[in-house]
Amino acid sequence: MQRSNIKMQDDKAIGLRVTRQEAYDLAKPRFKNKNLFKHVLAVEAVMIELADFFEEPRELWGLVGLLHDLDYEETVDTPERHTLVTEELLQPYALAAEIIHAIKCHNNLAEKNSLLDKALYAADPVTGLIVAAALMHPDKKLKAVDTEFILRRFKEKSFARGANREQIQSCEEMGMSLEQFLQVALRAMQKIDQELGL
Ligand SMILES: [Fe+2]
Repeated sequence: MQRSNIKMQDDKAIGLRVTRQEAYDLAKPRFKNKNLFKHVLAVEAVMIELADFFEEPRELWGLVGLLHDLDYEETVDTPERHTLVTEELLQPYALAAEIIHAIKCHNNLAEKNSLLDKALYAADPVTGLIVAAALMHPDKKLKAVDTEFILRRFKEKSFARGANREQIQSCEEMGMSLEQFLQVALRAMQKIDQELGL
């Protein structure tokens, strides 16, 4: 009992006012496109793995991943509003300012300062690259590909053009090499391969 009180205080201190389950339930119905929801789950997984890598709070980093694209479908035709609608949607939850800031950074609507900002910015496009790479493998499985395979696909400019290479490479701003980053991201996605259907 005492332990859970301490945990709650810790959570409050770092601005976690929704549980993972609440965030999941908030996010899921907002995606008619199942692949977009899978993208969000993939980004969440990568963010948690990155948090572990940097010894940062994994619950908070995971929430940023899970909530970062809440308004994606409704801002498809108004990309300049992407993340601003999310900010409005999340207002009643009074989440930590750093969560909202990181989310806005991934649409270039705020300046990337923190490790969290930089992590989401690089994690967002890397998931698309990894999914596309897994799908081109004969086995079509995340567990069938390795970092070397993803790195080769990264270097092929015509492959998965939508996965912004510059944005992925910005992992270096966190002090990670591209290879290290791809390794962490792939490992994260392999852990939830069933959920991702890959
Ligand atoms: Fe995204």
